[in-house]
Amino acid sequence: MSKVALITGAGRGIGKQIALTLSKEGYNIVLNFRTLSDDIKKLKKEIESNNVEVLLAEGDVSNFDDCKRFVDDAIAKFGKIDVLVNNAGITKDMLIARMKEEDFIHVLDVNLVGTFNVTKNVVTYMMKAREGRIINISSVVGISGNAGQANYSASKAGIIGFTKSLAKELSSRNILVNAIAPGFIESDMTNVLKDELKEEITKNIPLKRVGKPEDVANVVKFLVSSDSSYITGQVINVDGGMLM
Ligand SMILES: NC(=O)c1ccc[n+]([C@@H]2O[C@H](COP(=O)([O-])OP(=O)(O)OC[C@H]3O[C@@H](n4cnc5c(N)ncnc54)[C@H](O)[C@@H]3O)[C@@H](O)[C@H]2O)c1
Repeated sequence: MSKVALITGAGRGIGKQIALTLSKEGYNIVLNFRTLSDDIKKLKKEIESNNVEVLLAEGDVSNFDDCKRFVDDAIAKFGKIDVLVNNAGITKDMLIARMKEEDFIHVLDVNLVGTFNVTKNVVTYMMKAREGRIINISSVVGISGNAGQANYSASKAGIIGFTKSLAKELSSRNILVNAIAPGFIESDMTNVLKDELKEEITKNIPLKRVGKPEDVANVVKFLVSSDSSYITGQVINVDGGMLM
């Protein structure tokens, strides 16, 4: 029976690449996104060309009921979820002096509460199955902090605490929980930054290049494989050496 992976925020960027990479490994994919579009329908076909099934799971991860609905749909279709990748995330950058309360709360709601909402619903089934892998996408700024990103780095630091707590709680059920902390990865999220800033950041990356979504997806591939069966509660930086 094929394994099943649920990836949140998988319509584009890093999440999309994780879905494509895992489908090439034979995983049926539960593809979460916020709003159905032609691009998502195209992506579904692209993933299906790897001879796997795709369930389109529309829903806002910051809404608990949405998460319950799409997790229940996934169980109704596939009977299980072997892998959960909490990838959905947003930024609303601003220095604290000008950061609005609603922008602080919104980023925490999507990035951190969203991770809880999906995990809470999935874990029930993983515990019954007595196995599972959960990978949470954090960020190097969740470790280092970053001026202008108090909301985002707080959410990503929260994800690390959440990851380690669950790794301890769920180890007896053979559920391994790890986080990935990407550095600077090419995506729509980083495309909004000015070219001069991107050049400045790249100069400070020891490997002298910006990361690709594949760089993150390949680590997810490792973390869901049997090669990583003795790794839990860890944060793996995928950042070209940016933070060490
Ligand atoms: N790109 C980077 O440099 C970088 C660095 C560190 C961490 N990350 C993290 O990697 C993850 C993916 O980021 P990306 O670079 O691909 O950005 P992206 O903006 O291209 O993708 C984020 C995805 O999340 C989805 N999303 C946003 N809010 C959602 C919600 N409420 N419910 C469901 N889906 C929602 C978006 O629609 C989008 O598809 C994020 O968690 C981000 O914080 C990215």
